[in-house]
Amino acid sequence: MGKNRQSKRPAKASGLKPMKSDVKDLALADRGKQKIDWAEKDMPVLRSIRKTFSTKRPLSGIRIAACLHVTAETANLMRTLKTGGAEVYLCASNPLSTQDDVAASLAKHDEISVFAIKGEDKDTYYNHIHSTLEVKPSVTMDDGADLVSVLHTQKINFIKDIIGGTEETTTGVIRLKSMADKNVLQYPIIAVNDAYTKHFFDNRYGTGQSTLDGIIRATNKLMAGSVFVVCGYGWCGKGLAMRARGMGARVVVTEISPLAALEAVMDGFQVLPMSEAAVIGDVFCTVTGDVSVIRKEHFEQMKDGAIVSNSGHFNVELDLEVLAKMSKNKRQLRDFIEEFTLSNGKKIYVLAEGRLVNLSAAEGHPASVMDMSFANQSLSVEYLISNRQKLEKKVYRVPEAIDQNIAKLKLESMGVHIDTLTAAQEKYLNSWEMGT
Ligand code: ADE
Repeated sequence: MGKNRQSKRPAKASGLKPMKSDVKDLALADRGKQKIDWAEKDMPVLRSIRKTFSTKRPLSGIRIAACLHVTAETANLMRTLKTGGAEVYLCASNPLSTQDDVAASLAKHDEISVFAIKGEDKDTYYNHIHSTLEVKPSVTMDDGADLVSVLHTQKINFIKDIIGGTEETTTGVIRLKSMADKNVLQYPIIAVNDAYTKHFFDNRYGTGQSTLDGIIRATNKLMAGSVFVVCGYGWCGKGLAMRARGMGARVVVTEISPLAALEAVMDGFQVLPMSEAAVIGDVFCTVTGDVSVIRKEHFEQMKDGAIVSNSGHFNVELDLEVLAKMSKNKRQLRDFIEEFTLSNGKKIYVLAEGRLVNLSAAEGHPASVMDMSFANQSLSVEYLISNRQKLEKKVYRVPEAIDQNIAKLKLESMGVHIDTLTAAQEKYLNSWEMGT
């Protein structure tokens, strides 16, 4: 166990309440609190929800199990849910994305149970998911659907206590929709990812900025003049391509969808099949949500010194098993960079073990976008609870009224004013008779 680590046994001597947590080092808590408070300054919408929650207490009696990236922004969501009356239990949604100081602060200063240690191995990762579920939650909050998946495969008897769940990310929503289509989903889910105030901003501007931040922090490479290959032109790919171009890179996009590829062309990017992009790329980043996007035939074609990374949810987009087999040597070169030497002497550099580079080598999306994502999370949980009788075992969108309200609150916080329709405009929009 790490120094001063809070064990899963009740902490007696520390003066803490007997609260179960598994974090790296409680001595990091004060630094974590400063980070959380700093992030909170850029989360005005979440702050206003927290204020309302503090008087309304709409989550009283609710136990929430959350499996999210344990960041300063997530900590502010956890505090908001607790202020709303919920008991909150948090584990990591990725073994490399935890900010240990933030985890320590939540455990120590907010008395929230946290099970997350940066760099935890696969067994610990799943043990932490199980610890979080042991509390028999009434609501699950996922980023990638791991809680739902473990509940449906290994803890079926816990499902009867569950009112519903929320899902933060595209990959998770795809998994959950597939469960609903196959009639195996056992409780209602709100797809937070699909709210406009989530994916328009978090997936695009959040991923765009934080991914470049991760690549640059890991490598300190100049982006200007490089050939930057973006694999996938969904919302995350669009943001990444836009920001890489902004830093002076020559951006190449790869796609499998004709529509998305056409969009990339008209946005001014070069579109190539991966086999051709592999030959010319200096930096690669996958954001597709699918497996083996960069594989043997692509590694074979790459330049000496190519940098390969992923910003999709799971570490499946780069075929690193095959890269290891093709290599005669592998070594850790600096934090978050592994050097693979192929049998012909060529070197390929893999960032953050092919895991989310933005959360592993940097700090994830800035608080200002997570503000809207987590406002959606908070209000979706409230909605699940107040509509629990009506909801079926389906994947639902965030109600339009919540989405619009979050946009309105965000604009207000930015001091941006907009127009309203005149009565004549309203009438025109609601009529079909009026033509030329
Ligand atoms: N996903 C991407 N960025 C994040 C952040 N800062 N906090 C939580 N989840 C995230």
